[in-house]
Amino acid sequence: EKGAFRHFMEKEVHEQPESCQRTLSAYLDPVAKSVRADIKASIDFKDITRLQIIACGTAYYAGCIAKYAFEKIAGLPVDVEVASEFRYRTPAMTAGSLAMAVSQSGETADTLAALRWCAGEGLKTAALVNVHTSTMAREADILWPTHAGPEIGVASTKAFTAQLSALLSLVVCAGVQRGKIDAAQEAHYVQLLLETPGLISQALVMDSELSKVAAIDLSKSSDVIYLGRGAMFPLALEGALKLKEISYIHAEGYAAGELKHGPIALIDEKTPVVVIAPDDELFEKTASNVQEVAARGGRVIMITCVPEKVPTLSGDAAKSLKIIKGPACDPFIAPIIYSVPIQLLAYHTAVHKGTDVDQPRNLAKSVTVE
Ligand code: F6R
Repeated sequence: EKGAFRHFMEKEVHEQPESCQRTLSAYLDPVAKSVRADIKASIDFKDITRLQIIACGTAYYAGCIAKYAFEKIAGLPVDVEVASEFRYRTPAMTAGSLAMAVSQSGETADTLAALRWCAGEGLKTAALVNVHTSTMAREADILWPTHAGPEIGVASTKAFTAQLSALLSLVVCAGVQRGKIDAAQEAHYVQLLLETPGLISQALVMDSELSKVAAIDLSKSSDVIYLGRGAMFPLALEGALKLKEISYIHAEGYAAGELKHGPIALIDEKTPVVVIAPDDELFEKTASNVQEVAARGGRVIMITCVPEKVPTLSGDAAKSLKIIKGPACDPFIAPIIYSVPIQLLAYHTAVHKGTDVDQPRNLAKSVTVE
């Protein structure tokens, strides 16, 4: 039931404080401020030489985001690949690799086939899935559940942030097991994760401001560009996917540093640029991309928790910059928190355009055929 919400997607976006909380509870011990003992017992990341993440669509972007954290915090090499490519090439696998499927449904045909191929190669397999009775859940050696609850909207929202919650919890587990972080650092990261449900609630407050931006800047555009650096790069890709799916507006995500290698040619006053800029070590670099875009007449919508750090622009450039302030958060959990504004932006754009938010044309919730 949708309750007071107009669409399942809207309801599911607003459910994320609870769905992330439920997922985190399955991975973290809030009293000991550590990864739960049963999760630590499910795997020893010390024995894993490489993590191969396989997924499609939004779940693939969750994997791409997790790669940044696994490599930085746990020193674990990670490859992430879309399942439809992985399964039809001949990947060279490293002994000791763990193959992990990330999937809401646990039934996506390409992801399942790729997971089966890995099992056939003798690799250990894991399924990070939201449907715990699914084929992937049954077939994988390890089941890592997400607890988003049933997701009805075709565009994935709460399943994505639940995937990020579980994946970042596993990053902490891997960091401990691989001796990269000590108990104090484990407690620090666990605490950050435990704060995410409250911060998601704060991020949801951006709703009305994002609705205005969606109406004024996005709903009448035919192309939108999303930019981010670090883990915000795959989040930019996810933002663009969300917008395409439900509003049918063409959108592309780019690594902000790639702008000058081509996409900057697309910048004009008709093409809004959404910039995702949390308070991390790459902020200044991203802010200078904002200046580059604004100087070329581009309209920038910058989502950031540190507007005071944005350099002042002069003349017309200043008028083309809109800043939307999000809640202050640590870069480790920023991908979860900044998911909320990009989902809301896509949602409100679709509502303003009048497209079918919950049942976008040509799309199915579960892609069980290739
Ligand atoms: C996008 C979306 C799809 C799915 C993809 C994988 O909003 O929902 O891109 O993420 O089809 O589906 P699962 O996660 O069920 O394997």
